[in-house]
Amino acid sequence: MTDRLYIFDTTLRDGEQSPGCSMNLEEKVRIAKALSLLGVDVIEAGFPVASVGDFESVFRIASEVDRAVIAGLARAHAQDITRAAEAVKPAGDRARIHTFIATSPIHMEAKLRMAPDDVVKRAVDSVKLARSLVPQVEFSAEDAGRSDMDFLCRIVEATIAAGARVINIPDTVGYMTPDEFGDRISQLLNRVPNADQAIFSVHCHNDLGLAVANSLSAIEHGARQVECTINGLGERAGNAAMEEIVMILRTRSDRYDIETGIDTTKLVPTSKMVSQITGMPVQPNKAIVGANAFAHESGIHQDGVLKHKKTYEIMTPESVGWTTNRMILGKHSGRAALSARYDELGVTVSEEQMPAIFERFKHLADKKKEVFDEDLISILSGDGDVNEESIKLVNLHVSSGMQEQPIAKVSLEIDGAVHDASCVGDGPVDAAFNAIKSLLDTDSRLLLYSVNAITSGTDAQGEVTVRIQEGERIINGQGADTDIVVASALALINAMNKLPNVHARELHAQYSAV
Ligand code: KIV
Ligand code: ZN
Repeated sequence: MTDRLYIFDTTLRDGEQSPGCSMNLEEKVRIAKALSLLGVDVIEAGFPVASVGDFESVFRIASEVDRAVIAGLARAHAQDITRAAEAVKPAGDRARIHTFIATSPIHMEAKLRMAPDDVVKRAVDSVKLARSLVPQVEFSAEDAGRSDMDFLCRIVEATIAAGARVINIPDTVGYMTPDEFGDRISQLLNRVPNADQAIFSVHCHNDLGLAVANSLSAIEHGARQVECTINGLGERAGNAAMEEIVMILRTRSDRYDIETGIDTTKLVPTSKMVSQITGMPVQPNKAIVGANAFAHESGIHQDGVLKHKKTYEIMTPESVGWTTNRMILGKHSGRAALSARYDELGVTVSEEQMPAIFERFKHLADKKKEVFDEDLISILSGDGDVNEESIKLVNLHVSSGMQEQPIAKVSLEIDGAVHDASCVGDGPVDAAFNAIKSLLDTDSRLLLYSVNAITSGTDAQGEVTVRIQEGERIINGQGADTDIVVASALALINAMNKLPNVHARELHAQYSAV
């Protein structure tokens, strides 16, 4: 009989720990809904004790996302566990606490400063507390890859006896090789007396580029849950990429007789959504979801594929959600068609959100001959009404040329009132940014600015990603428009809306509208 592998997605937790990859509440809820439609079994929605914002997003996801189990991360501390329990509670019998403590000698000695016996006791007490609060408890032995095997067996046995029904073995620092890691899973399954009472899970980091290989080796040795992220996002070099694991199991089903619940045709749309929201571009040669993953460049390859696709294609682009259906919707399309297309893309658009999104779609369809899937996804991020943004772009006029200094005039609606400013700059985008910043009470610095044509042709939507820093916070913003300067302004405004307490600045005379 074919085995089942549970897919535990941690894009919203470990993925959000990627440097510079922050998401706001609405964006997290949108991703969680897409993950549920994609078919993941567990969504790790966040780390509720970390901040009020994290708590709120886990709570909202637990309240609004159906089908998938909703997990909240908690260190092995009573305060973390009770907070996580509160956050995941709305998920009812799908509520899970994922509690962890480090088990490697270096982490116990240098970080926790705890003796191994105390670590076991803390882990057991935490699992018992979590078990008294929610129906599902998962325990992780952080840095299990570098932990002593006898100690790992001991703590795993004790936490299963305390009520954990999922035991996660993380290779926290991405140090393991596939053989070693697979052997760890085998040993645990064979040596821990109550191993049959739990599902064994793995969580591999990609520091040496082995996260997917290590996860697969663990599956071959009996692991039945894999923790992974869309596009391989995650702390440092990231986590195992979900799309790769799922497509390896499917494409090589001759070797791995194991199924997942993933609807593979939603992999590419979900990848694009995550990339757009986080501002983390997908490299073109990335397996499965990279723009070149199915592009055949050499003449010999093109000739082969034209004669028989299987000469150079081991899976079809359609099977992972690359669509050849380019002319999707146009200005005569109605709401039903738009809504149906969003369903196909794995995006949930509520009835309340639809009017604002439809208006933006019509606006775009008026400007462009063809509206592509990428446009439809970017419409979601760019729509102020959807995110209840307090700063909105009302108007932007930029004049620039070879012999003139660029000047931008901008009108922003800030907390309901319209403010105007005019600034010069080193280029049209710089002038627009100066004008926007002059109206806002912020000292943020621009760390990154990138432009990407998200569709083809000269009427393509340009997608701009900015990363700004204010104090300790690093925030991304996205904007898309057929006009790159407008897209840039929208991206900066999108980022500003994610900063708390940004209001209108009292204007210095030099900035007053002209
Ligand atoms: O990498 C890690 O060890 C983690 C744990 C919290 C599971 O992210
Ligand atoms: Zn991790």
